[in-house]
Amino acid sequence: MNLRISIVTCSDTRDIAEDAAGARLEELVRAQGWTVASHVVVRDDETAIAQAICAAADDERADVVITCGGTGLSPRDVTPEATRSVCDRDVPGIAEAMRAYSMTKTRRAMLSRALCMQRGHALVVNFPGSTKAAQESWEGIYDQLEHAAHMMAGEGHPARP
Ligand code: MTE
Repeated sequence: MNLRISIVTCSDTRDIAEDAAGARLEELVRAQGWTVASHVVVRDDETAIAQAICAAADDERADVVITCGGTGLSPRDVTPEATRSVCDRDVPGIAEAMRAYSMTKTRRAMLSRALCMQRGHALVVNFPGSTKAAQESWEGIYDQLEHAAHMMAGEGHPARP
């Protein structure tokens, strides 16, 4: 399955040219043979992040929307709140797996408030914002994304007799 993945980097300081974490995520997506559906940078503003998630899921028809940054504890970190405001269902296991894998790299991983949720047929996953942290988070979950997309499309399991 050729997954369509959108990247929404949330940062008050970075623009697309300086978005090293987003660029690394693009590389990781393409290394799987998947498509980067879109890649934008928005400010740490709840409304702007929510709009970017909706545009990626609804207009770009992304199977997976990865947000990057804004998951920490500072007052400007609002990515999880923006995610919850436009999504329907929690998928806690993916966020748990991301943190569990990340904890094998750094105990600071427990400081991420990252969520994973569904918006209709799209999976929205919050990644932390540093290049290293984003790559490690990808390593922790990417192998389940294809099956998740199948399940969201209603193709996961054959109908019961
Ligand atoms: N996860 C991984 N895999 N590697 C990391 O280095 N850094 C943590 C955490 N998650 C980290 C990580 C740190 S220091 C913070 S503050 C939180 O992610 C939130 O990061 P963010 O505000 O950039 O989203």
